[in-house]
Amino acid sequence: MSRAPDERARLRATSNNLVLHLHQPRVAAHAIRWTYTFGLGGLNILALLVLISTGVLQMFAYTPTPEHAYQSVVAMQTVAPYGQFLRNLHHWSANLLIVSTALHLLRVFYTGSFRGSRRRNWWLGLCLLGLVALANFTGYLLPWDQLAYWAVTVGTSMLSYFPGGDGLRHFILGSDTVAARTLTNFYVLHVVIIPLTIVLTVVYHIWRVRKDGFSANVRATTRVTTVPHLFGREVIFGLLMLCALLLWAMVVQAPLEQAADPLHPPNPNKAAWYFVGFQELLLHLHPLVGIVILPALIVSMLVALPELDAHTESTAIWFRARGGWRLALFGLGLGSAGMLAFIFSSELWLKRLVSPPGISNELFALAVRGVLPLLAGLGALWLLQSQLRHRGVPPSARWMVLGSVLVAAYLTLTAVGLFLRGPDMALTLFWRSHD
Ligand code: HEM
Repeated sequence: MSRAPDERARLRATSNNLVLHLHQPRVAAHAIRWTYTFGLGGLNILALLVLISTGVLQMFAYTPTPEHAYQSVVAMQTVAPYGQFLRNLHHWSANLLIVSTALHLLRVFYTGSFRGSRRRNWWLGLCLLGLVALANFTGYLLPWDQLAYWAVTVGTSMLSYFPGGDGLRHFILGSDTVAARTLTNFYVLHVVIIPLTIVLTVVYHIWRVRKDGFSANVRATTRVTTVPHLFGREVIFGLLMLCALLLWAMVVQAPLEQAADPLHPPNPNKAAWYFVGFQELLLHLHPLVGIVILPALIVSMLVALPELDAHTESTAIWFRARGGWRLALFGLGLGSAGMLAFIFSSELWLKRLVSPPGISNELFALAVRGVLPLLAGLGALWLLQSQLRHRGVPPSARWMVLGSVLVAAYLTLTAVGLFLRGPDMALTLFWRSHD
């Protein structure tokens, strides 16, 4: 039965009204170009919705006790209708959320969309990134398999290096080691506290995008109506991504290893993939530098970025200027080459140095694996900045190069940790079997 024209008009007006609560009625043509946002903010929302719905459904089958957790996951996969598929979907959308949140951060960084009033959203975004990592980390433990148990043991053991970190670790774990109390703590964090905080923060984040004005609007020459131009693209992109995710989850199974065995750690014993770069860094640096000083420097820089790089003239321009991608590429190349050089010199040289007589091992390690690499790294970055300044590269582009160096350095650490570390975390290039 076809609807009367005035009923159709009323329906259209209602749906437009709903959409226009989220978006302005008109947007810059520049803003809806696929290559401006790559739809990453929207992809984050989609992944979040899939995560919440599949998470709630899994709660009907999952039992959060060490005695039953693993078996309940096995039963979900083998007995519950569509249980395996649900678990796959939850697992892969969680990984997608990590990747798409990081890429969205990079989009905002490379288009300089974090300045002026948008700085609040940058800070909210940094909190969201931390929350997304925490959501993944707390979820990692729930299957209570070997992977879960030992990745969380490695991850939380890093806390011990912080001043007062042992107390914090005990508070989070609820005991000295990963145990029954830890599972309860992580479960409550994972299914209630973190998702609720993420949802509230995302709502505020999106409200702020509307309030501050989307960055691309500053370059508005022509404007188009939101419905259908922007909204149509969002719907098509969302449906395509959802199909891709569903297909992926049908074909690729979420990993599940043997049940957790607190007495037998796997070898190598690696952290969750997004923390592997950090774990790799700690193989080379003194904990005081690797866990306290360096992360504190990087987090402070991220927080202060809107003040450090406040040059609004390049806002909404990818890589700060036409052809700026060459500088970004240069930074990425330099970051990976520099990090590889550091890893190999640490492996072949720094780690083999022994303390001279009269100097304690601890002091020597702090000097050789802490102060020396820190000063060398900071010196290299300072030299890079002064060379770029000397060649007339504007300050904003210099920040972009610095960001690229750091991103590439972390990606290189992650790749080495994931693919080149074998048993006993030895570099597989050099590792030989002892039998
Ligand atoms: C769960 C995580 C997140 C969600 C759901 C989310 C969602 C969104 C959405 C939908 C937009 C509108 C434009 C677009 O699609 O790009 C946006 C813009 C923005 N986001 Fe996020 N975001 C998240 C994480 C982050 C992170 C990690 C950062 C950076 C630290 C960040 C900083 C910003 C900023 C500054 C804007 C305004 C950009 C502009 O005006 O061009 N967001 N976000």
